[in-house]
Amino acid sequence: MPQTASPIILVFDSGLGGVTVYREIARARPDARLVYVADDAAFPYGALSEDKLVGRVLKVIGDAIERCRPDLVVIACNTASTLALGDLRARFSVPFVGTVPAIKPACAQSQSKHVAVLGTQATVGREYTRALIREFAVGCKVTLVGSARLATLAEAELNGRPPADEEIAAEIAPCFVLDGNRRVDTVVLACTHYPLLLQRLRVNAPWPVDWIDPAPAIARRVVDLLGPSLPGHGAVPTRMLLTSGQQPSIALATALKAYGFNLL
Ligand code: DGL
Repeated sequence: MPQTASPIILVFDSGLGGVTVYREIARARPDARLVYVADDAAFPYGALSEDKLVGRVLKVIGDAIERCRPDLVVIACNTASTLALGDLRARFSVPFVGTVPAIKPACAQSQSKHVAVLGTQATVGREYTRALIREFAVGCKVTLVGSARLATLAEAELNGRPPADEEIAAEIAPCFVLDGNRRVDTVVLACTHYPLLLQRLRVNAPWPVDWIDPAPAIARRVVDLLGPSLPGHGAVPTRMLLTSGQQPSIALATALKAYGFNLL
């Protein structure tokens, strides 16, 4: 793909989880014009049926492409990527970068050869995820853990309403499997919301593990496709489009600054 001056990159998620991916892309391409699109009217995606979700994602992304004319679209949502990436690529000519469970690097780095994949119930149940395990987890045990509530708890944290430790501990507890003398030493964060809670996850873990956040790898993929940052371009304001039609509150806009958002 030719190097575009100050490319337009659309970063999409069901809600605010994609901001963890946005942060890495903004660091890697500070010159880019970033548009953050959240389908907050349909959040959480983990609760939608597959048929409904594919239709919804195609519609929201189609509208956003029409409106913003991006050079690249990042689907910063595992629940959408593991289901709809093929349909999106078939329907639209713009390049897509997806976010799918980082099973390959987790299994490669695990010392105990037992990893857990923590995602929405939809993501851990998908054939896409099972295929990644068949292909990349040879010789490594993988425990799949679907959480019904963690994405919502992460949104509450970002909105200044931190959930109780007990709530977080209950959601992550099934990741901590002790199997004879082999215990899980690596947890894949297979939902972009979960890195929003990283410090809370560490504090509430029964023992220390490596938490794998795919965001840096996604940003590297963006740079592979669009090229490195161009000199001479200052930081560009972020556009944020919410399908609910709402504007982010002042408290949220302030919290988003830590994720590299420069909202107008
Ligand atoms: N952030 C989304 C993901 O990566 C999902 C959260 C949801 O809408 O359920 O899977």
